[in-house]
Amino acid sequence: MDKMWAGRFEKATDKVADDFNSSIHFDKKMYKQDIRGSMEHANMLCKVGILTEEELGKIYSGLSGILEDLNSGELEFDMNAEDIHMFVEAELTKRIGDIGKKLHTARSRNDQVALDLRLYMRDEVFEIITLLKKLIASTLGVAKNNTRTIMPGYTHLQRAQPITFAHHLLAYCMMLLRDVSRLYDAVLRMNYSPLGSCALAGTTYPTDRDMVAEALNFDGVTMNSIDGVSDRDYCVELEAAFAIIMMHLSRFSEEIILWSSWEFKFIELDDAYTTGSSIMPQKKNPDMAELVRGKTGRVYGDLMATLTMLKGIPLAYNKDMQEDKEAIFDSVETVKKCLTVFIPMIETMKPIPENMYAASKKGFINATDLADYLTKRGVPFRTSYKIVGTIVGKCVKEGKTLDEITLDEYKEYSEVFGPDLYDEISLESCVGKRISKGSTGYESVDEQIRYVESQL
Ligand code: ARG
Repeated sequence: MDKMWAGRFEKATDKVADDFNSSIHFDKKMYKQDIRGSMEHANMLCKVGILTEEELGKIYSGLSGILEDLNSGELEFDMNAEDIHMFVEAELTKRIGDIGKKLHTARSRNDQVALDLRLYMRDEVFEIITLLKKLIASTLGVAKNNTRTIMPGYTHLQRAQPITFAHHLLAYCMMLLRDVSRLYDAVLRMNYSPLGSCALAGTTYPTDRDMVAEALNFDGVTMNSIDGVSDRDYCVELEAAFAIIMMHLSRFSEEIILWSSWEFKFIELDDAYTTGSSIMPQKKNPDMAELVRGKTGRVYGDLMATLTMLKGIPLAYNKDMQEDKEAIFDSVETVKKCLTVFIPMIETMKPIPENMYAASKKGFINATDLADYLTKRGVPFRTSYKIVGTIVGKCVKEGKTLDEITLDEYKEYSEVFGPDLYDEISLESCVGKRISKGSTGYESVDEQIRYVESQL
């Protein structure tokens, strides 16, 4: 195929260079956006008198035909085309003749690629938001069934204080809600049309960029034509948002992996979301969670690749920027795949409350409440802390828990201890007495559930 830009060259591009340069094998993903953008551009060209109604009609039906045929698979992408923009234009001219050559008036491929990627990413972002909301709803569902399931809360992966499983899961709901808002926020900034930047400097034709922007549901046009074609901030912002989503999923995965181990056994994953071992017959491995944790690395990598690609290029468009797409497509696909497998994995996992409770009994996770018991009866907190620390030391030596120490023994450490201490340090009351906003207390957890529901 002759290059559209072949005019000033004496030789054809070398085959190796051609393959190296070509982006059709990945930017073909954006064919719908490319055709849609061309249709609106043609519409505008007609409105301002650059195309006649008749020419517009031909271009429109030509583009519609290409779209249909690509959708049905009847038309295959020509891998010799340099990119999706060249392919569509060449195909159009093949179908409707010279009128097709008028379509590229007052625009450049630099505008087209900037437009297509924004349109493509806008659609993908809304798909990811839907998946995130589904995951939040699934996690919330498990939380609602476990508002009385007591488990140890950890810091430093050491048992710290009793919490409910619902409270723990709600923490993930909050993270995922922030992920949703980060994506909405990025869309606000990216939703401006670069079409009509005309390579970099604008055009002498009386174009109406606003008309095209409105037709494509943008909030307006990019205000500087150089920036319009050079800006890939939205890719970086979205990739950063995706990296944060993956970081959250990875932390969640790590806990699921721990919880499903025999050392914890707080949950049992459904068989459908685990795998076996080729040699060890007893194994049931949490591969999905491990893969999500593993794939986090490549999404971070995509962000780094884009930031690094952009950091040294002068204004305006440079071919380096073609590298934006594989990175962002990879991160979009990865996030979508991970969310898609995560949702049913969470919905089908079975919590094992007895094991969570048994683990809560060990590890002195009621020690803070025992110290608070003394403090509420007048002992300064630091002193209470020290007394309880000493008692814990005694328990460790004797292999006892705090509720196995007799009142007489307690009295040796402080006269303030009374018989009501045992009630106060029961796991149920440790949780039930937490009344601060956001805490693990039953009312606070109900409030968090209502909050998450309201956000969905
Ligand atoms: N395939 C190119 C890309 O993905 C499209 C823009 C090409 N522009 C140009 N002046 N060569 O970035």
